[in-house]
Amino acid sequence: MKQVLVLGGSGFVGGHVCEKLVRAGYRVFVTTRKAVHARSVMHLPGLTVLECNVHDEAALKRAMAGMDAVINLVAILHGSPVAFQHVHQDLPAKIARACLAMGVRHLVHISALGVNAAQPQSAPSNYLRSKALGENILVDILGLREGGAAGCGLTVLRPSVIFGANDKFLNVFARLQALFPVMPLACADARFQPVWVEDVASAVLNSLKQGLEQAPTLRVYELAGPQVYTLRQLVQFAARSSGINQGQGRPVIGLPLWMGRIQAFALGLIPGTPVMSQDNLDSMQLDNVASGEWPGLAALDLQASSLQAIGPEYLFTDAAAQGLLGLRHRHR
Ligand SMILES: NC(=O)c1ccc[n+]([C@@H]2O[C@H](COP(=O)([O-])OP(=O)(O)OC[C@H]3O[C@@H](n4cnc5c(N)ncnc54)[C@H](OP(=O)(O)O)[C@@H]3O)[C@@H](O)[C@H]2O)c1
Repeated sequence: MKQVLVLGGSGFVGGHVCEKLVRAGYRVFVTTRKAVHARSVMHLPGLTVLECNVHDEAALKRAMAGMDAVINLVAILHGSPVAFQHVHQDLPAKIARACLAMGVRHLVHISALGVNAAQPQSAPSNYLRSKALGENILVDILGLREGGAAGCGLTVLRPSVIFGANDKFLNVFARLQALFPVMPLACADARFQPVWVEDVASAVLNSLKQGLEQAPTLRVYELAGPQVYTLRQLVQFAARSSGINQGQGRPVIGLPLWMGRIQAFALGLIPGTPVMSQDNLDSMQLDNVASGEWPGLAALDLQASSLQAIGPEYLFTDAAAQGLLGLRHRHR
């Protein structure tokens, strides 16, 4: 039985990835900072939760002992430039070194759509810049720059915004509209190509299988849904699907960026994980749409599922009537 270590397996995408891995017959290990964070996956048959500080390279190596593959889902969406560097650059460096030291054969790394690894400094936000630099660090340390075959292969998956039950995107916009009669929105024309969490998890599984079967090399995929939406359309879709205002949603008022920044500052005052940060606004200066330069879901034998078909199924039950508490990400 092949053994897989999932870093960040306790999160939104991680739960779906772990379930698919277990069903596919892998023995799965999940690292977490606190075991209680992993309660959504700890019941999965044969899955082991490891309480571990992944930033400690020695601890990371111990967790990787005997693993055939590693999946890295650890990331943050908000934080200081130092925090982004710590999680998106320093950690990948430690992961890559540990993979080589422990004989791991394949690493699947989840990055983000909009990352331009060829020009990291052109990124509009700390999130995208640190993600791009992190990809480059992995490629360099694993010795895959020339397409060469080091000990460990690498798959980089770049998803657009991910939707699905308990997502932190459409649900948040639905909750805001449950509370307020109008929806002031910055970057309303920013474009996204939302991808279903189950498709992302299947892409992880299929790319892992491929990586373990083939010679170690670098593969990059863009994971996007079948349709492009503006942020305004997504916000309206979230409210209508949640049944807010008898299914009509709220009027969406586009804000100029400077007003969006004031709004982000105010939202940052709500306790818990910020709903929207200055850095998120910076990320939205770039369309979150597949470039077409890299293969997509089809190259992993998957057909992208549509938001129109899946969104209403979970948004109605997830989002409605959760009030202010729902705005704080129910993180554990
Ligand atoms: N969700 C989206 O729409 C989206 C879109 C594009 C790309 N992505 C990418 O997909 C991946 C998974 O995203 P997700 O939405 O599943 O994220 P998530 O729910 O926030 O989960 C991330 C996990 O990382 C761990 N983590 C967070 N900060 C950490 C830190 N400072 N040190 C160590 N571990 C930490 C947490 O595990 P513990 O608390 O258990 O330690 C958490 O469960 C990420 O790389 C993300 O950038 C997501």
